[in-house]
Amino acid sequence: MKKGVIILGSANSNGETRKIVSYISDKTNYPIIDLKQKNISEFDYEFKNRNDDFHPLIKEIVDTYDIIIFATPVYWYSMSGIMKTFFDRISDCLKIEKETGRKLRGLEMAVVSCGSDKKLKNGFHMPFIETAKYLGMNYVSDVHCWIEDNDIPISVKNDLNEFVKSIQ
Ligand SMILES: Cc1cc2nc3c(=O)[nH]c(=O)nc-3n(C[C@H](O)[C@H](O)[C@H](O)COP(=O)(O)O)c2cc1C
Repeated sequence: MKKGVIILGSANSNGETRKIVSYISDKTNYPIIDLKQKNISEFDYEFKNRNDDFHPLIKEIVDTYDIIIFATPVYWYSMSGIMKTFFDRISDCLKIEKETGRKLRGLEMAVVSCGSDKKLKNGFHMPFIETAKYLGMNYVSDVHCWIEDNDIPISVKNDLNEFVKSIQ
């Protein structure tokens, strides 16, 4: 059994992506970390933000978990801004937190997206796949979801059940 963590990157802590990650967390017992509740500022070349919440968070993640599940709404065909900021800050781990950066190697990555459209445009997963490659992480799987009438449709639940198998 792997140890996993779900990183939620929605602008709405209790929105549609939260519904999806709650479903995954119920099945896996993986905790959810809500980036919206963290103080993580944009990448800074001078690392003036080194005392915000990013470094303790990424250290805890690399020291505790085998698989990171990134869950993001689709905003303008891409990952959310909050999630992108988290990815940008991983650059800190290549410059001033190198030990943490090295510990990312060999960890697994999976991606959950939630949009209003039932299909993602080509290339949505590219930044995740290439980042995993660059960091020496193993990209294991992804699943795309949407919500209908405030609930997870059956077909999405079926996809999520398959996804859950791939991350355990
Ligand atoms: C700023 C913004 C941009 C969006 N762009 C897209 C998009 O490009 N494609 C799509 O399918 N849905 C798009 N949506 C819809 C959301 O992805 C969808 O409603 C999602 O379930 C919202 O999840 P959330 O409640 O966690 O934010 C957008 C929503 C917002 C607020």
